[in-house]
Amino acid sequence: FQPRLQVLASQEDVARQAAALLEARIRQGAARVLGLATGRTPLRVYALLSEAVRDGRLSLAGISTFNLDEYAGLSPDHPGSYRSYMNRHLFAGSDVDLARTHVPDGLAADPVAAGRDYEARIKAAGGIDLQLLGIGQNGHIGFNEPGSPFDSRTRMVPLAASTRAANAGDFPGGTVPERAITMGIGTILEAREIVLLACGPAKAEAVAAMIDGPVGPACPASALRLHPRVTVLCDAEAAARV
Ligand code: GLP
Repeated sequence: FQPRLQVLASQEDVARQAAALLEARIRQGAARVLGLATGRTPLRVYALLSEAVRDGRLSLAGISTFNLDEYAGLSPDHPGSYRSYMNRHLFAGSDVDLARTHVPDGLAADPVAAGRDYEARIKAAGGIDLQLLGIGQNGHIGFNEPGSPFDSRTRMVPLAASTRAANAGDFPGGTVPERAITMGIGTILEAREIVLLACGPAKAEAVAAMIDGPVGPACPASALRLHPRVTVLCDAEAAARV
């Protein structure tokens, strides 16, 4: 398969297009279970969705959400945790039922059991209808670093040094955790629809590898070419090498 690639002029346009797509699917009832991503790229999307909820144009009541990943060793209220990111940037400003929001448990004493439990909860919710993704500079999706098997499931993983450096801004004055719990590539590929966002020149190489490079674990995002329903929304800078 080839992802549907849409190149837009600016990061703002990417965010608007992504928010419009998500809103349309939610209104159609085609996105009752959302897979969500963190990082800088989706921030504006979440701001636009929160705005739509506040203005009464959209409701997330009844929607279930599953986040891709969480840092190991961080409690949910640590400001660098992805749970606190989601509460801050989307959940608190929306009408979502917090009990229906899920983020992997970074404090799990038994990460293997926690991974299995997360997979079971996704299954019990009926599977993910629409998965939002970003992409790492090394082609990672979620925290599936290069070398991750395409059939991997939710599990604890070590983070690449480059990923820890890229995310240092989330930990002012502190160190970035060395490990995370992430949905696997196999988990991500089971979503019924996938929307990947990429913005800025630092993503150009990863986007080109995802779309034109060999399909294999050296570029985790290349696994998306095994999925029939993927939309890639890029700004011009991220699409520069395609
Ligand atoms: C992070 C996250 C990914 C995210 C990616 C890109 O490490 N685990 O889910 O998509 O890297 O982040 P950003 O959007 O900040 O560039």
